[in-house]
Amino acid sequence: MTDHEVRTLADDELRASQELFRATLHAKPITDDEWPRLRAALQSARSLGVHEVDSGALIGTARSFDSAITLPGGGDVALGAVTSVGVRADRTRRGVLTELMHAQLREFADRGLVAAGLHASESAIYGRFGYGIATWARDYTVDVRRAKLRQDAPAGGRVNIENLDSAMERWAAAYPAMATRPGMLARPDEWWAGLRSHLGREEGPVTAVTHEGAGGVDGFAVYSVDRPRPGSATLNLIELQAAGPEAFAGLWRYLLSVDLIGEITASARPLDEPLELLLTDPRAVSTTAQFDDLWLRIVDVAAALAARTYEGEPVVIEVTDPVFPGNEGRYDLGPDGAVRTDRPAELHLSVDTLATVVLGAWRPSQLVDTGRVREVTPGAALRADRLFSTPAPPWCGTFF
Ligand SMILES: CC(C)(COP(=O)(O)OP(=O)(O)OC[C@H]1O[C@@H](n2cnc3c(N)ncnc32)[C@H](O)[C@@H]1OP(=O)(O)O)[C@@H](O)C(=O)NCCC(=O)NCCS
Repeated sequence: MTDHEVRTLADDELRASQELFRATLHAKPITDDEWPRLRAALQSARSLGVHEVDSGALIGTARSFDSAITLPGGGDVALGAVTSVGVRADRTRRGVLTELMHAQLREFADRGLVAAGLHASESAIYGRFGYGIATWARDYTVDVRRAKLRQDAPAGGRVNIENLDSAMERWAAAYPAMATRPGMLARPDEWWAGLRSHLGREEGPVTAVTHEGAGGVDGFAVYSVDRPRPGSATLNLIELQAAGPEAFAGLWRYLLSVDLIGEITASARPLDEPLELLLTDPRAVSTTAQFDDLWLRIVDVAAALAARTYEGEPVVIEVTDPVFPGNEGRYDLGPDGAVRTDRPAELHLSVDTLATVVLGAWRPSQLVDTGRVREVTPGAALRADRLFSTPAPPWCGTFF
Protein backbone atom coordinates (compact mmCIF):
# COMPACT_ATOMS: atom_id res chain seq x y z
CA MET A 1 0.00 0.00 0.00
CA THR A 2 2.26 2.81 -1.25
CA ASP A 3 -0.36 5.59 -1.48
CA HIS A 4 -0.97 5.61 2.28
CA GLU A 5 1.09 6.52 5.31
CA VAL A 6 0.55 5.11 8.81
CA ARG A 7 1.89 7.14 11.70
CA THR A 8 1.32 8.08 15.32
CA LEU A 9 -0.97 11.10 15.56
CA ALA A 10 0.03 14.28 17.39
CA ASP A 11 -2.21 15.69 20.12
CA ASP A 12 -3.67 18.31 17.78
CA GLU A 13 -4.80 15.54 15.40
CA LEU A 14 -6.74 13.56 18.00
CA ARG A 15 -10.06 15.30 17.58
CA ALA A 16 -10.07 14.64 13.83
CA SER A 17 -9.30 10.96 14.44
CA GLN A 18 -12.10 10.67 17.00
CA GLU A 19 -14.49 12.43 14.59
CA LEU A 20 -13.53 9.92 11.91
CA PHE A 21 -14.08 7.00 14.28
CA ARG A 22 -17.50 8.34 15.36
CA ALA A 23 -18.53 8.64 11.71
CA THR A 24 -17.57 5.00 11.02
CA LEU A 25 -19.94 3.97 13.83
CA HIS A 26 -22.68 6.24 12.42
CA ALA A 27 -22.63 8.18 15.70
CA LYS A 28 -23.18 11.91 16.20
CA PRO A 29 -20.18 14.24 15.76
CA ILE A 30 -18.26 15.45 18.82
CA THR A 31 -19.53 18.76 20.22
CA ASP A 32 -17.22 21.52 21.50
CA ASP A 33 -18.73 21.01 24.97
CA GLU A 34 -17.99 17.31 24.91
CA TRP A 35 -14.46 17.45 23.53
CA PRO A 36 -12.52 18.38 26.72
CA ARG A 37 -13.97 15.35 28.53
CA LEU A 38 -13.29 13.04 25.63
CA ARG A 39 -9.76 14.42 25.24
CA ALA A 40 -9.07 13.54 28.88
CA ALA A 41 -9.80 9.91 28.01
CA LEU A 42 -7.08 9.74 25.34
CA GLN A 43 -3.47 8.90 26.12
CA SER A 44 -1.03 10.91 24.02
CA ALA A 45 1.01 9.02 21.40
CA ARG A 46 -1.38 6.05 21.41
CA SER A 47 -3.46 6.93 18.34
CA LEU A 48 -2.46 5.82 14.87
CA GLY A 49 -3.74 7.42 11.70
CA VAL A 50 -3.61 6.45 8.04
CA HIS A 51 -3.30 9.38 5.65
CA GLU A 52 -3.63 9.34 1.90
CA VAL A 53 -0.41 10.62 0.41
CA ASP A 54 -1.97 12.56 -2.48
CA SER A 55 -4.90 14.25 -0.68
CA GLY A 56 -3.38 14.25 2.83
CA ALA A 57 -6.77 13.11 4.15
CA LEU A 58 -7.08 10.98 7.26
CA ILE A 59 -8.89 7.79 6.21
CA GLY A 60 -8.35 5.36 9.09
CA THR A 61 -7.51 5.32 12.76
CA ALA A 62 -6.93 3.03 15.73
CA ARG A 63 -5.95 3.92 19.26
CA SER A 64 -5.09 2.17 22.50
CA PHE A 65 -4.43 2.82 26.14
CA ASP A 66 -1.86 1.11 28.31
CA SER A 67 -3.37 -1.44 30.67
CA ALA A 68 -2.65 -4.87 32.14
CA ILE A 69 -4.64 -8.08 32.18
CA THR A 70 -5.11 -10.47 35.10
CA LEU A 71 -4.07 -14.04 34.29
CA PRO A 72 -5.00 -17.33 35.98
CA GLY A 73 -3.04 -17.54 39.21
CA GLY A 74 -3.32 -13.80 39.86
CA GLY A 75 -0.32 -12.49 37.91
CA ASP A 76 -0.75 -9.86 35.23
CA VAL A 77 0.95 -8.75 32.03
CA ALA A 78 1.08 -5.43 30.18
CA LEU A 79 -1.68 -5.11 27.60
CA GLY A 80 -2.51 -2.56 24.95
CA ALA A 81 -6.27 -1.99 25.10
CA VAL A 82 -7.31 -1.31 21.50
CA THR A 83 -10.28 0.88 20.66
CA SER A 84 -11.55 3.63 18.31
CA VAL A 85 -10.82 1.51 15.23
CA GLY A 86 -12.39 2.79 12.05
CA VAL A 87 -11.78 3.28 8.33
CA ARG A 88 -13.62 5.94 6.31
CA ALA A 89 -16.58 4.27 4.61
CA ASP A 90 -15.41 5.26 1.12
CA ARG A 91 -11.96 3.74 1.69
CA THR A 92 -12.80 0.31 3.19
CA ARG A 93 -11.73 -3.12 1.90
CA ARG A 94 -8.41 -2.04 0.48
CA GLY A 95 -6.18 -3.01 3.37
CA VAL A 96 -6.25 0.12 5.55
CA LEU A 97 -7.25 -1.76 8.72
CA THR A 98 -4.64 -4.41 7.96
CA GLU A 99 -1.94 -1.72 7.85
CA LEU A 100 -3.19 -0.22 11.11
CA MET A 101 -3.37 -3.54 12.95
CA HIS A 102 0.11 -4.59 11.91
CA ALA A 103 1.60 -1.20 12.78
CA GLN A 104 -0.13 -1.21 16.16
CA LEU A 105 0.99 -4.74 17.03
CA ARG A 106 4.58 -3.93 16.01
CA GLU A 107 4.46 -0.84 18.20
CA PHE A 108 3.14 -2.90 21.14
CA ALA A 109 5.93 -5.44 20.65
CA ASP A 110 8.56 -2.66 20.48
CA ARG A 111 7.29 -1.27 23.79
CA GLY A 112 7.39 -4.72 25.44
CA LEU A 113 3.63 -5.14 25.80
CA VAL A 114 2.76 -8.82 26.20
CA ALA A 115 -0.78 -8.73 24.85
CA ALA A 116 -3.41 -6.67 23.07
CA GLY A 117 -7.14 -6.74 23.76
CA LEU A 118 -10.30 -5.30 22.25
CA HIS A 119 -14.08 -5.59 22.09
CA ALA A 120 -15.08 -6.27 18.49
CA SER A 121 -17.98 -4.53 16.73
CA GLU A 122 -18.15 -7.52 14.40
CA SER A 123 -16.71 -10.95 15.07
CA ALA A 124 -15.27 -11.58 11.59
CA ILE A 125 -12.72 -8.76 11.71
CA TYR A 126 -9.88 -9.57 14.12
CA GLY A 127 -9.11 -13.32 13.96
CA ARG A 128 -6.85 -12.78 10.95
CA PHE A 129 -4.61 -10.54 13.07
CA GLY A 130 -4.15 -13.24 15.74
CA TYR A 131 -6.93 -12.16 18.11
CA GLY A 132 -9.11 -14.88 19.65
CA ILE A 133 -12.16 -14.80 21.94
CA ALA A 134 -10.73 -14.93 25.45
CA THR A 135 -13.80 -14.09 27.54
CA TRP A 136 -17.58 -14.38 27.18
CA ALA A 137 -20.29 -12.26 28.75
CA ARG A 138 -24.06 -12.17 29.04
CA ASP A 139 -26.81 -9.54 29.21
CA TYR A 140 -29.70 -10.21 31.55
CA THR A 141 -32.88 -8.61 32.79
CA VAL A 142 -34.33 -8.86 36.27
CA ASP A 143 -38.08 -8.78 36.88
CA VAL A 144 -37.98 -6.65 40.01
CA ARG A 145 -41.45 -7.58 41.24
CA ARG A 146 -40.45 -11.27 41.35
CA ALA A 147 -36.92 -10.72 42.61
CA LYS A 148 -36.52 -11.11 46.39
CA LEU A 149 -33.23 -11.88 48.10
CA ARG A 150 -33.10 -15.21 49.93
CA GLN A 151 -32.99 -15.08 53.70
CA ASP A 152 -29.49 -16.55 53.75
CA ALA A 153 -28.11 -13.89 51.36
CA PRO A 154 -25.15 -11.96 52.82
CA ALA A 155 -26.34 -8.86 54.68
CA GLY A 156 -23.98 -6.49 52.85
CA GLY A 157 -22.58 -3.22 54.15
CA ARG A 158 -23.56 0.41 53.66
CA VAL A 159 -24.70 1.73 50.28
CA ASN A 160 -24.43 5.46 49.62
CA ILE A 161 -25.54 7.52 46.64
CA GLU A 162 -22.61 9.77 45.72
CA ASN A 163 -21.50 12.52 43.42
CA LEU A 164 -20.02 10.69 40.44
CA ASP A 165 -16.91 12.85 40.11
CA SER A 166 -15.83 12.51 43.73
CA ALA A 167 -16.83 8.83 43.92
CA MET A 168 -14.72 7.83 40.93
CA GLU A 169 -11.46 8.67 42.67
CA ARG A 170 -12.28 6.32 45.54
CA TRP A 171 -13.50 3.64 43.13
CA ALA A 172 -10.28 3.86 41.15
CA ALA A 173 -8.28 3.29 44.33
CA ALA A 174 -10.44 0.32 45.38
CA TYR A 175 -10.82 -1.26 41.93
CA PRO A 176 -7.52 -3.26 41.78
CA ALA A 177 -8.76 -5.44 44.66
CA MET A 178 -11.84 -6.25 42.55
CA ALA A 179 -9.97 -7.06 39.32
CA THR A 180 -8.86 -10.52 40.41
CA ARG A 181 -10.70 -12.69 37.91
CA PRO A 182 -8.70 -13.80 34.84
CA GLY A 183 -9.43 -11.44 31.96
CA MET A 184 -9.99 -8.33 34.07
CA LEU A 185 -8.08 -5.20 33.11
CA ALA A 186 -6.19 -2.49 34.93
CA ARG A 187 -7.94 0.86 34.50
CA PRO A 188 -5.60 3.83 34.00
CA ASP A 189 -6.78 7.38 34.80
CA GLU A 190 -7.79 7.88 31.18
CA TRP A 191 -10.20 4.92 31.39
CA TRP A 192 -12.01 6.60 34.28
CA ALA A 193 -12.07 9.86 32.32
CA GLY A 194 -13.59 7.86 29.45
CA LEU A 195 -16.32 6.55 31.74
CA ARG A 196 -17.06 10.14 32.78
CA SER A 197 -17.21 11.21 29.15
CA HIS A 198 -19.45 8.27 28.22
CA LEU A 199 -21.85 8.93 31.12
CA GLY A 200 -22.02 12.59 30.11
CA ARG A 201 -23.69 11.46 26.89
CA GLU A 202 -26.50 9.59 28.72
CA GLU A 203 -29.91 11.15 28.06
CA GLY A 204 -31.20 10.99 31.64
CA PRO A 205 -29.65 11.31 35.08
CA VAL A 206 -26.96 8.85 36.12
CA THR A 207 -26.74 7.58 39.70
CA ALA A 208 -23.52 6.42 41.35
CA VAL A 209 -23.59 4.22 44.46
CA THR A 210 -20.70 3.03 46.60
CA HIS A 211 -20.73 -0.06 48.82
CA GLU A 212 -18.64 0.06 51.97
CA GLY A 213 -17.83 -2.97 54.07
CA ALA A 214 -15.76 -3.25 57.23
CA GLY A 215 -12.57 -2.52 55.27
CA GLY A 216 -13.89 0.48 53.30
CA VAL A 217 -15.01 0.74 49.66
CA ASP A 218 -15.45 -2.76 48.24
CA GLY A 219 -18.04 -2.26 45.50
CA PHE A 220 -19.79 0.29 43.35
CA ALA A 221 -22.51 0.60 40.73
CA VAL A 222 -23.64 3.15 38.16
CA TYR A 223 -27.08 3.22 36.58
CA SER A 224 -29.50 5.30 34.60
CA VAL A 225 -33.30 5.00 34.59
CA ASP A 226 -35.78 5.12 31.70
CA ARG A 227 -39.21 6.08 32.96
CA PRO A 228 -41.82 6.03 30.24
CA ARG A 229 -45.27 7.32 31.19
CA PRO A 230 -47.43 5.34 31.38
CA GLY A 231 -45.40 2.23 32.12
CA SER A 232 -42.97 1.02 34.73
CA ALA A 233 -39.40 2.24 34.79
CA THR A 234 -36.28 0.33 33.74
CA LEU A 235 -33.04 0.67 35.65
CA ASN A 236 -30.09 0.20 33.29
CA LEU A 237 -27.08 -1.04 35.18
CA ILE A 238 -24.06 0.46 33.45
CA GLU A 239 -21.36 -0.75 35.82
CA LEU A 240 -21.23 -2.99 38.89
CA GLN A 241 -18.03 -4.18 40.52
CA ALA A 242 -17.84 -6.04 43.81
CA ALA A 243 -14.81 -7.34 45.71
CA GLY A 244 -16.73 -10.15 47.42
CA PRO A 245 -20.10 -11.62 48.41
CA GLU A 246 -21.01 -8.88 50.89
CA ALA A 247 -20.58 -6.15 48.29
CA PHE A 248 -22.34 -8.18 45.58
CA ALA A 249 -25.38 -8.95 47.75
CA GLY A 250 -25.37 -5.47 49.32
CA LEU A 251 -25.44 -3.73 45.95
CA TRP A 252 -28.21 -6.00 44.63
CA ARG A 253 -30.24 -5.54 47.82
CA TYR A 254 -30.08 -1.80 47.14
CA LEU A 255 -30.81 -2.03 43.38
CA LEU A 256 -33.88 -4.21 43.97
CA SER A 257 -35.17 -1.72 46.54
CA VAL A 258 -35.18 1.36 44.28
CA ASP A 259 -38.76 2.61 43.96
CA LEU A 260 -40.77 2.75 40.71
CA ILE A 261 -38.55 0.20 38.93
CA GLY A 262 -40.16 -2.75 37.16
CA GLU A 263 -37.10 -4.15 35.43
CA ILE A 264 -33.34 -4.00 35.73
CA THR A 265 -31.14 -4.61 32.70
CA ALA A 266 -27.47 -5.48 33.06
CA SER A 267 -25.01 -5.83 30.21
CA ALA A 268 -21.75 -7.72 29.69
CA ARG A 269 -21.91 -9.53 33.03
CA PRO A 270 -19.96 -12.73 33.85
CA LEU A 271 -21.61 -15.93 32.54
CA ASP A 272 -21.49 -17.45 36.02
CA GLU A 273 -22.54 -14.39 38.05
CA PRO A 274 -24.76 -16.10 40.65
CA LEU A 275 -27.58 -13.55 40.75
CA GLU A 276 -30.21 -16.24 40.09
CA LEU A 277 -29.09 -18.13 43.20
CA LEU A 278 -29.19 -15.02 45.40
CA LEU A 279 -32.95 -14.82 44.78
CA THR A 280 -35.92 -16.84 46.05
CA ASP A 281 -37.14 -17.13 42.43
CA PRO A 282 -34.22 -17.79 40.06
CA ARG A 283 -36.46 -17.21 37.03
CA ALA A 284 -36.73 -13.56 37.97
CA VAL A 285 -33.46 -13.30 36.00
CA SER A 286 -33.52 -13.91 32.23
CA THR A 287 -30.38 -14.05 30.13
CA THR A 288 -31.16 -12.02 27.01
CA ALA A 289 -27.84 -12.40 25.15
CA GLN A 290 -24.52 -14.20 25.39
CA PHE A 291 -21.63 -12.92 23.30
CA ASP A 292 -17.88 -12.74 22.74
CA ASP A 293 -16.46 -10.16 25.13
CA LEU A 294 -12.67 -9.65 25.14
CA TRP A 295 -10.65 -10.54 22.07
CA LEU A 296 -7.05 -11.18 23.09
CA ARG A 297 -3.90 -11.07 20.94
CA ILE A 298 -0.84 -12.56 22.56
CA VAL A 299 2.07 -10.40 21.41
CA ASP A 300 4.78 -12.20 23.41
CA VAL A 301 3.80 -15.86 23.75
CA ALA A 302 6.72 -16.90 25.99
CA ALA A 303 6.02 -14.07 28.45
CA ALA A 304 2.25 -14.63 28.51
CA LEU A 305 2.53 -18.38 29.06
CA ALA A 306 5.15 -17.91 31.79
CA ALA A 307 3.00 -15.38 33.67
CA ARG A 308 0.07 -17.72 34.39
CA THR A 309 -0.03 -20.80 36.62
CA TYR A 310 -0.81 -24.41 35.67
CA GLU A 311 -2.03 -27.51 37.48
CA GLY A 312 -1.69 -31.12 36.40
CA GLU A 313 0.69 -33.02 34.14
CA PRO A 314 2.96 -31.21 31.65
CA VAL A 315 2.19 -30.90 27.93
CA VAL A 316 4.33 -29.65 25.03
CA ILE A 317 2.47 -27.35 22.64
CA GLU A 318 3.62 -25.93 19.31
CA VAL A 319 2.39 -22.45 18.41
CA THR A 320 2.24 -20.82 14.96
CA ASP A 321 2.01 -17.06 14.46
CA PRO A 322 1.72 -15.46 10.99
CA VAL A 323 2.59 -11.95 12.24
CA PHE A 324 5.35 -12.57 14.81
CA PRO A 325 7.57 -15.50 13.72
CA GLY A 326 9.53 -15.05 16.96
CA ASN A 327 6.55 -16.46 18.85
CA GLU A 328 6.61 -19.69 16.87
CA GLY A 329 7.95 -22.83 18.44
CA ARG A 330 7.38 -25.34 21.20
CA TYR A 331 6.56 -24.59 24.81
CA ASP A 332 6.65 -27.01 27.73
CA LEU A 333 3.80 -26.15 30.12
CA GLY A 334 3.42 -27.61 33.59
CA PRO A 335 3.13 -26.86 37.30
CA ASP A 336 6.76 -25.65 37.26
CA GLY A 337 5.93 -23.00 34.65
CA ALA A 338 6.21 -22.54 30.90
CA VAL A 339 9.50 -22.68 28.99
CA ARG A 340 10.61 -23.08 25.41
CA THR A 341 11.66 -26.64 24.56
CA ASP A 342 13.05 -28.79 21.74
CA ARG A 343 10.96 -31.77 22.81
CA PRO A 344 8.38 -33.00 20.28
CA ALA A 345 5.03 -31.23 20.26
CA GLU A 346 1.96 -33.05 21.56
CA LEU A 347 -0.54 -30.37 20.51
CA HIS A 348 -0.40 -27.83 17.67
CA LEU A 349 -2.35 -24.58 17.66
CA SER A 350 -2.17 -21.06 16.23
CA VAL A 351 -1.72 -17.93 18.29
CA ASP A 352 -5.40 -16.88 17.96
CA THR A 353 -6.51 -20.28 19.26
CA LEU A 354 -4.04 -20.01 22.12
CA ALA A 355 -5.80 -16.77 23.09
CA THR A 356 -9.09 -18.67 23.42
CA VAL A 357 -7.62 -21.18 25.90
CA VAL A 358 -5.06 -19.15 27.85
CA LEU A 359 -7.62 -17.61 30.24
CA GLY A 360 -9.88 -20.68 30.29
CA ALA A 361 -12.68 -19.54 27.94
CA TRP A 362 -12.45 -22.80 26.00
CA ARG A 363 -10.88 -26.20 26.76
CA PRO A 364 -8.25 -27.46 24.29
CA SER A 365 -10.13 -30.76 23.87
CA GLN A 366 -13.21 -28.83 22.64
CA LEU A 367 -11.01 -27.18 20.06
CA VAL A 368 -9.64 -30.55 18.87
CA ASP A 369 -13.26 -31.22 17.86
CA THR A 370 -13.23 -28.08 15.72
CA GLY A 371 -9.84 -28.72 14.12
CA ARG A 372 -8.32 -25.63 15.72
CA VAL A 373 -6.12 -27.75 18.00
CA ARG A 374 -4.30 -30.71 16.45
CA GLU A 375 -3.54 -33.52 18.87
CA VAL A 376 -0.43 -35.57 18.08
CA THR A 377 -0.17 -37.53 21.33
CA PRO A 378 -3.46 -39.19 22.33
CA GLY A 379 -4.65 -37.81 25.68
CA ALA A 380 -2.58 -34.63 25.41
CA ALA A 381 -5.66 -32.43 24.92
CA LEU A 382 -7.25 -33.74 28.11
CA ARG A 383 -4.01 -33.04 30.00
CA ALA A 384 -4.01 -29.54 28.50
CA ASP A 385 -7.64 -29.07 29.63
CA ARG A 386 -6.51 -29.55 33.21
CA LEU A 387 -3.44 -27.32 32.80
CA PHE A 388 -5.41 -24.40 31.38
CA SER A 389 -8.48 -24.79 33.63
CA THR A 390 -9.48 -21.91 35.90
CA PRO A 391 -11.68 -21.89 39.02
CA ALA A 392 -14.09 -19.34 37.46
CA PRO A 393 -14.75 -18.50 33.81
CA PRO A 394 -12.71 -15.49 32.69
CA TRP A 395 -14.45 -12.13 32.39
CA CYS A 396 -13.22 -8.74 31.24
CA GLY A 397 -15.74 -6.42 32.90
CA THR A 398 -14.19 -3.26 31.46
CA PHE A 399 -15.80 -1.55 28.52
CA PHE A 400 -13.56 0.37 26.12
C1 LIG B 1 -14.01 -2.89 10.23
C2 LIG B 1 -13.19 -1.89 9.41
C3 LIG B 1 -12.25 -1.14 10.34
C4 LIG B 1 -12.40 -2.69 8.37
O1 LIG B 1 -11.51 -1.81 7.67
P1 LIG B 1 -10.94 -2.16 6.20
O2 LIG B 1 -9.89 -1.17 5.91
O3 LIG B 1 -12.08 -2.31 5.27
O4 LIG B 1 -10.29 -3.59 6.44
P2 LIG B 1 -9.24 -4.29 5.43
O5 LIG B 1 -9.46 -3.81 4.04
O6 LIG B 1 -7.86 -4.16 5.98
O7 LIG B 1 -9.74 -5.77 5.58
C5 LIG B 1 -8.92 -6.85 5.89
C6 LIG B 1 -9.73 -8.10 5.71
O8 LIG B 1 -10.78 -8.13 6.68
C7 LIG B 1 -12.03 -8.29 6.03
N1 LIG B 1 -12.99 -7.47 6.76
C8 LIG B 1 -12.82 -6.19 7.11
N2 LIG B 1 -13.91 -5.75 7.75
C9 LIG B 1 -14.76 -6.78 7.82
C10 LIG B 1 -16.05 -6.94 8.37
N3 LIG B 1 -16.67 -5.91 8.98
N4 LIG B 1 -16.64 -8.15 8.27
C11 LIG B 1 -16.00 -9.16 7.64
N5 LIG B 1 -14.77 -9.07 7.10
C12 LIG B 1 -14.17 -7.89 7.18
C13 LIG B 1 -11.81 -7.78 4.63
O9 LIG B 1 -12.74 -8.32 3.74
C14 LIG B 1 -10.42 -8.22 4.35
O10 LIG B 1 -10.41 -9.59 4.02
P3 LIG B 1 -9.47 -10.16 2.87
O11 LIG B 1 -8.06 -9.84 3.34
O12 LIG B 1 -9.77 -11.61 2.85
O13 LIG B 1 -9.84 -9.41 1.64
C15 LIG B 1 -14.10 -0.88 8.67
O14 LIG B 1 -14.98 -1.60 7.84
C16 LIG B 1 -14.91 0.01 9.60
O15 LIG B 1 -14.47 1.09 9.94
N6 LIG B 1 -16.13 -0.45 10.00
C17 LIG B 1 -17.04 0.36 10.83
C18 LIG B 1 -16.50 0.66 12.21
C19 LIG B 1 -16.11 -0.60 12.96
O16 LIG B 1 -16.83 -1.58 13.00
N7 LIG B 1 -14.93 -0.54 13.58
C20 LIG B 1 -14.41 -1.63 14.38
C21 LIG B 1 -14.65 -1.32 15.81
S1 LIG B 1 -14.18 -2.69 16.84
